[in-house]
Amino acid sequence: MAWATDLIPISKDKFKDLKIKLILYYLSVMIAIFSASGLLIYHIIAHHLYKQFEEHMLRLAENASKILELVKHEHEEYYHEPFSRLTLADLINKSENNNQVTSKNLFAEKNQSIQWFNEKHQLLIQEGNLLNKWNSFVQNKTTHDYDQQKHLFSLILPVYSNNESGELIGYIKVTESTLTLEKNLKLLQWSLTLTGFFILILSTGGAIFLTQESLKPIKASFQELKQFTADASHELRTPLTVISTSTEVILSHPEKIEPSDLTKIQAITTATHQMKILINDLLLLARMDNEKLEKEKNLLNIPIEEMWEDLLDFVQIKAESKKITIESHLVNNILVKGNINHLQQLFSNILNNALQYTPEGGKIIVILEKNYPYAVIKVKDTGIGIKETELKYIFQRFWRGEEGRNHRREGTGLGLAIAEKIVTNYGGKITVDSELGKGSLFCIYLPLS
Ligand SMILES: Nc1ncnc2c1ncn2[C@@H]1O[C@H](COP(=O)(O)OP(=O)(O)OP(=O)(O)O)[C@@H](O)[C@H]1O
Ligand SMILES: [Mg+2]
Repeated sequence: MAWATDLIPISKDKFKDLKIKLILYYLSVMIAIFSASGLLIYHIIAHHLYKQFEEHMLRLAENASKILELVKHEHEEYYHEPFSRLTLADLINKSENNNQVTSKNLFAEKNQSIQWFNEKHQLLIQEGNLLNKWNSFVQNKTTHDYDQQKHLFSLILPVYSNNESGELIGYIKVTESTLTLEKNLKLLQWSLTLTGFFILILSTGGAIFLTQESLKPIKASFQELKQFTADASHELRTPLTVISTSTEVILSHPEKIEPSDLTKIQAITTATHQMKILINDLLLLARMDNEKLEKEKNLLNIPIEEMWEDLLDFVQIKAESKKITIESHLVNNILVKGNINHLQQLFSNILNNALQYTPEGGKIIVILEKNYPYAVIKVKDTGIGIKETELKYIFQRFWRGEEGRNHRREGTGLGLAIAEKIVTNYGGKITVDSELGKGSLFCIYLPLS
């Protein structure tokens, strides 16, 4: 009838949790995909732009290299003259490659500078003021440097003579500000981030829609299952009543019963009684699943300390037979708006559990107090306790703990599920704290009326 499994039945609230979880999972996956794709796109574009920038610098240096020999020659000629007399414009005019190297394509916007060096790394002439200290002259290799703090990119190109000897004649160093490039990359970063946000907003809508759609059939079949349970329980009531009435009638005339049949009929009576309890529990759960709380109507202001006094009187004989002492501390004048049957069932389920799962000689303490806006009922026992790993299952329908089943064979595992359903339908909550072998504490919080 009852089992202990890892299977967790789904309630209406669980659907809400499941929906939120699915949406969050979906969004996490989307965020991970967007971030990875955004980073990849950014790095590909940035790499491409830096490469383009470097190529453009190299072209500039190659252009400048065409007049290096002329620069060297002129520099020697004017060596003893003030250096300022040598200007790039003069040199270009003298350049044999004048038709290819114009001042326009050679040089020099505000964000650039070019320096001509001889083979001994001596600066011959320079144009532009954008300079950095980096000077890495390598004979066979074009070298470059990126100073991120000063936003400068420099490139040094070794230059060789055009004649047969092909000897090294000097170096060209070009330096250019990377501010525009960095600005473009910042713009790219912002565009990608904004696009990411925009897609994320759309994805959230998509996630909600997809989750709703995918949960629809599950909800429908869950609803069907609940309806089936309610219908089946309802249909079973009549034949069960017939069986129990018949056995009662038979048992009312024990003299007419064969002694060998008496125990069988008594077994039928007990089983029928258990089935009635189970079916009533199932029907109550099905009813409470479907109607939130018969809001306001049929609800009374119930003084729950009186209910508890009656309940404690009622279980006193049972407690004495098990040598269990019950201590109670009940505060007066605590009113809770509710239905007497529901509250009775709630309190007796918790108190009966305490009695059933506490061995002989144990103790139960019941405390009723006000903790605004709740009436708080604490039921503490020195019973068998519940394993920590099992605590999360105890309010699930048909779930019974291993220790619980060993301690008490009968039981359906619906008592706490009903208790939780009633409490949540009343806008309250129920908590449990337990230690295996030491005891348990159940706290019920019900809104005060
Ligand atoms: N006070 C308690 N001490 C130790 N274990 C408990 C206590 N109350 C509940 N449990 C554990 O939680 C399980 C579920 O309790 P619940 O009241 O829902 O079902 P049940 O008592 O087994 O059957 P039913 O109440 O339908 O007769 C129990 O089987 C038991 O393992
Ligand atoms: Mg129980």
